[in-house]
Amino acid sequence: MNTRARSGALALTVALALLAAGCTGGGAGGVTGKPGAAGLRDPYFPRLGNGGYDVGHYGLTLAYDPASGRLDGRAEITAKATQDLSAFNLDLAGLTVREATVDGEPAAVSRAGNELTLRPGRDIDEGAEFRTVVTYDGVPETITDLDGSKEGWLRTTDGALAVGEPTGSMAWFPGNHHPSDKAAYDVTVTVPAGVKALSNGVLTSEKTTADGRTTSVWHSAEPMASYLATLAIGRYDTATATALGKVPVLTAADPEVTAKSAALRAKVPEILKWQTENFGPYPFAAAGAIVERDGDLGYALETQSRPVFPIGSFDTTTLVHELAHQWYGDSVTPASWKDIWLNEGFATYAEWLYAEDFGNTPAQKSFERAFSDEDAWAFPPAEPPTAEDLFGSPVYQRGAMVLHKIRQAVGDDTFFEILSGWPAKYRYSTATTEDFTRYVESVAGKDLSGLWDVWLYGDGKPDKP
Ligand code: TRP
Ligand code: ZN
Repeated sequence: MNTRARSGALALTVALALLAAGCTGGGAGGVTGKPGAAGLRDPYFPRLGNGGYDVGHYGLTLAYDPASGRLDGRAEITAKATQDLSAFNLDLAGLTVREATVDGEPAAVSRAGNELTLRPGRDIDEGAEFRTVVTYDGVPETITDLDGSKEGWLRTTDGALAVGEPTGSMAWFPGNHHPSDKAAYDVTVTVPAGVKALSNGVLTSEKTTADGRTTSVWHSAEPMASYLATLAIGRYDTATATALGKVPVLTAADPEVTAKSAALRAKVPEILKWQTENFGPYPFAAAGAIVERDGDLGYALETQSRPVFPIGSFDTTTLVHELAHQWYGDSVTPASWKDIWLNEGFATYAEWLYAEDFGNTPAQKSFERAFSDEDAWAFPPAEPPTAEDLFGSPVYQRGAMVLHKIRQAVGDDTFFEILSGWPAKYRYSTATTEDFTRYVESVAGKDLSGLWDVWLYGDGKPDKP
């Protein structure tokens, strides 16, 4: 019997067995549904994210008590099944799960490491939209990355700060925590008198309850990767402005750094205007910045619509960098962590362009400086050797050098067309390095494989800059 005939016979046998079981293939009988994968096989974090469904919306309802550090959460996750599902996973680190339902019915809960498995009473059909509600509480964890940086949930003197790149968001809500599954968010946060809560997007309501607690609601309509979600709880001085004639800008500062950060916070609208001229339309309905004390956070992060900074790195260059990420990283998101240079290379090149336009430093000069920095040559930007290297110098510096080499190869007109065309083509979506090289070649109308081989994938420093 040849293979084809054998598989035909097998298919027939299976079909007959299913018929005998009275199953019409919908999964309602629990025969065809399979558990969704426990990870999306990211090259650096194979268990990050989960298979079998696609999240459309997170509705997070949270209450935080800075004194005890306790978080009470309810995550309502609306998703679409991409296969017949008998069970599926969410990523969650620490915390205690009290209850889980799927479409209003109790689901069985089990946990192993950062994998939370939910088994609903009946299978979910492929293509069906389903609503999961998880209630949970506890003191969220701070996660230490391989490179020693802290992420997840950071306790501050007067509250907390959530930062999620690359894997920290599982410390404060269950979800599909891989950058490839972006979703809309509504975050409702209740905090005690004396502190405020800030998150991404537009503040749609703020109410003070009888006991002095404040509940604020934050809406992000545009898809967001979970690593870009933030929550900042504490004492803040806030300021509002309008950018681009229509975008509400909300900046906040820890009272200790209000005065020191005020002048630069006021520059958010003009930087966004310059970026819009170079990168295309601003992708989000809100903008801003949150500035913390140095002890509260070790690095700046491009949290969507409202990046966060320690005061020590709240300078013009870093502000330009994090705001550039709104186009490169936030609107167009890496399909996997391997593609992180698409974020950092562009954001670094934005710094070079800003220095060219306002700092009397041509990008060529920034390129030459980066070229002569030995740290930049440790590995090819499109191939970080380990998770520890994801934010290494080559990702930033060589990543920006790749863009400068493209500029040299195609000329300024085509280069600036690429700079705005790339975030336009992949707006609100995800993209890989190969999507990028294909896109550049299509706009340039030429083969650039030599450039990719040397600058994107090549080991070591080329002879000539
Ligand atoms: N993506 C951030 C930026 O460049 C930096 C960052 C986030 C980072 N998480 C990190 C750097 C962890 C080192 C380690 O704006
Ligand atoms: Zn960056």
